[in-house]
Amino acid sequence: MHFTINGKSYEAEVDVRTSLLDLCREHLGLTGSKKGCDHGQCGACTMLVNGRRINACLTLAVMHQDDEIMTIEGLGTVENLHPLQAAFVKHDGYQCGYCTPGQICSAVGMLDEVKKGWPSHASADLSDVTFDESEISERMSGNICRCAAYPNIVEAIREVAAEQREVTA
Ligand code: FES
Ligand code: FES
Repeated sequence: MHFTINGKSYEAEVDVRTSLLDLCREHLGLTGSKKGCDHGQCGACTMLVNGRRINACLTLAVMHQDDEIMTIEGLGTVENLHPLQAAFVKHDGYQCGYCTPGQICSAVGMLDEVKKGWPSHASADLSDVTFDESEISERMSGNICRCAAYPNIVEAIREVAAEQREVTA
């Protein structure tokens, strides 16, 4: 099978039952995405597929041969961090760091959903989403942090959301 991950081409022979998460971690050496629960409960495995966030433990690799897959390894580099990566560092948005790749990939997808006008249960006004704690918490509710670094995660995301809003204003 052929896959495009972080802009690079990969060939891999895997069982048709292999999840996208296991393809990356066990076959391709891309261990940035984490396996927390392996059944869609924690969000540690979140990747972007064609720009949309998904739980990679719940989807089969064979379904994604023609997709653009992005993992945390493709978002930024040590020398050139993605704005969300830099904000997580600045705001100390982690303790053990296990959930962090999924949190950051999820936040990238979430901010794009807001740009597209996708609603959330917490949005009072869809034409002008206010990135308060309840809005960010609701939209990030699929990503669990066992270290409970939530206040700092919210601050990091809020800062990047505000910066993006200034750029597009
Ligand atoms: S490992 Fe995929 S949601 Fe927990
Ligand atoms: S930083 Fe430890 S699980 Fe989130």
